[in-house]
Amino acid sequence: MEILDGKKISNQIKEEITVEVEQMKERGEKVPHLAAVLVGNDGASLTYVGSKVRSCKKIGFESTLIHLPEETTEEDLLKQVHQLNNDPAIDGYIVQLPLPKHIDEEKVLMAVDPDKDVDGFHPTNFGKMALDMETFISATPFGIMELLKRYNVDTEGKHTVVIGRSHIVGRPISILMSQKGKPGNSTVTLAHSRTKNLKELTLQADIVISALGVPKFLKDDMVKDGVTVIDVGITRVADDTKEKGYYITGDVDFESVSKKASFITPVPGGVGPMTIAMLLKNTLLARERHN
Ligand code: GUN
Repeated sequence: MEILDGKKISNQIKEEITVEVEQMKERGEKVPHLAAVLVGNDGASLTYVGSKVRSCKKIGFESTLIHLPEETTEEDLLKQVHQLNNDPAIDGYIVQLPLPKHIDEEKVLMAVDPDKDVDGFHPTNFGKMALDMETFISATPFGIMELLKRYNVDTEGKHTVVIGRSHIVGRPISILMSQKGKPGNSTVTLAHSRTKNLKELTLQADIVISALGVPKFLKDDMVKDGVTVIDVGITRVADDTKEKGYYITGDVDFESVSKKASFITPVPGGVGPMTIAMLLKNTLLARERHN
């Protein structure tokens, strides 16, 4: 069994980007500038955005955090989005999800300039991804593909079962895994909450990608020997004995499933850090494309 070490690989990617940023500076070029818009004070979102901004600083990017109050109106948020679209200093930006309930998420994401949409959430970018055109691929599916690539996991002709059909993970990773390429060329089943006999499907899978958000959902009796398991779940479970009052767990019962797996991602330290690295990669691409 080999651990797919997202922390290690994400550090490698960040080092590679740091070298490129240094070269940009030496050539007297503008360095990439990422902005993040956060509305409200959701605990997990604060952690993620803080981590994204810190990573920018570490690798030499410029970064701007725009933290708006929970009661921000949709109109004001749209104004902010247009301002970022028109600001030549900003190469790429993200609007952290979820947004407060009174704001129409779709409307906001549609307003983001596709050329600055380093999250890859705009329909133009999602469509290009689905058609295998040059675009911004969303950081989480992009990170999974990069992890499989760097560990040389063989996906060709394999049966991949994706659990979860979200717009930001399940749906795009099911498309990417089926596309031509290495990794890719996989036969994909996209399972979700209405799927019948999920266990029958996962037992046939060479690769299981779980993006469900149910702690320890995937057990060892649901997978075959030699399976590759990608755990995209990140759930906070309340626990008073922990310093933060919670611990983080994935969709996979790691202890039992890892005994049958050939490759497996841990949580934390698997897909999570890869997501941040690929957002930075997309921001670098945005800078290069804006030249
Ligand atoms: N919320 C959960 N994941 C993400 C992400 O990748 N980008 C943004 N903007 N919000 C998220």
